[in-house]
Amino acid sequence: MLKVGNTVKFTPLICAIMTTEEREIEFQAKIDNGQKIEPKEWMPENYRKQLIRMISQHAHSEIVGMLPEGNWITRAPSLRRKAVLLAKVQDEAGHGLYLYSAAETLGIDRQTLIDQLLTGKAKYSSIFNYPTLSWADIGAIGWLVDGAAIVNQTMLARGSYGPYSRAMVRICKEESFHNRQGYEIMYELANGTEAQKQMAQDALNRWWGPSIQMLGPSDAASTNSSETMKWNIKVESNDVVRQRFIDRTVPQAVAAGLTIPDPDLKYNEETEHWEIGEVDWDEFYRVIKGHGPCNKKRLSDRQRAEKEGEWVREAAIAYAEKQNKKMNAIAA
Ligand code: ACO
Repeated sequence: MLKVGNTVKFTPLICAIMTTEEREIEFQAKIDNGQKIEPKEWMPENYRKQLIRMISQHAHSEIVGMLPEGNWITRAPSLRRKAVLLAKVQDEAGHGLYLYSAAETLGIDRQTLIDQLLTGKAKYSSIFNYPTLSWADIGAIGWLVDGAAIVNQTMLARGSYGPYSRAMVRICKEESFHNRQGYEIMYELANGTEAQKQMAQDALNRWWGPSIQMLGPSDAASTNSSETMKWNIKVESNDVVRQRFIDRTVPQAVAAGLTIPDPDLKYNEETEHWEIGEVDWDEFYRVIKGHGPCNKKRLSDRQRAEKEGEWVREAAIAYAEKQNKKMNAIAA
């Protein structure tokens, strides 16, 4: 292994005769040195598997995440709100597409990933298994859900796998816009009529707990963290990220005149952190095992969309084939 400046390198000749153990040491040195890993480089099989697991769960979350918000596009209270929501939901589709592409660089094809989602084999974020009962829920999703996603994903942008970390940079910029539009909705409702304020508070009451849970189980219960953190796939633990989300969100609730629904919430002057009460982990595990309020509906909606979109895919393939034939005829 050679260190050239700040980069760990090894010559192809040495590489050819290296044992797996030596390659693993070398790989870990690159990770510890802060280097990005690119698709064609050697990587341990479990690094590849962990990435496919995480990136595909993330991609599915973006796609399923369009459903609760899509529910409000036709009912947004003004043309401006409708245009903003439509743009946001389209952004989420784009995020799903970058992420499926990032997963494909690891040697798995998109159809396999989509089949895993449609057959219920794959996980997606717990948070998207809750219903959007009022317009304020759209505000709560942007403010809390996208707020939690930004804190998680700015951390993932520092991760070791090039295609995933680079996708995070753009996604986080778009998520910041989503987050602001959500907070704006909540702020306006919270400072509107009494009924509007109650609607905002009710949405916060329902989305706060699931938003805290969506950042993953506590560090003690996290089964993948030892591997994902050793390889800098995640550069911070679930609890660290959760605390950052809480510290950033509580003052925003106060500024909007809303109350975080946690009687045990308190500010610790010594640590300068907000401390929350017990998290309902039973609810989290119930939802990720398929028993949340909307798990069945989310899956059946995706299955229906796949079926109804079949003719569009067929038409696109037929059109591409026709264009290819035309181009070949011109070239001949
Ligand atoms: N929803 C569903 N499953 C979850 C969630 C969640 N919110 N959090 C954790 N899990 C699952 C994990 O996938 C894992 O299950 P698996 O081993 O069968 O895959 C199990 O619970 C244990 O969790 P961890 O060991 O802590 O898993 P991990 O190290 O992957 O950390 C985390 C979880 C933080 C969510 C990580 O996977 C991550 O950062 N993922 C990428 C971001 C993402 O997917 N965000 C989704 C929301 S995107 C959006 O809001 C638009």
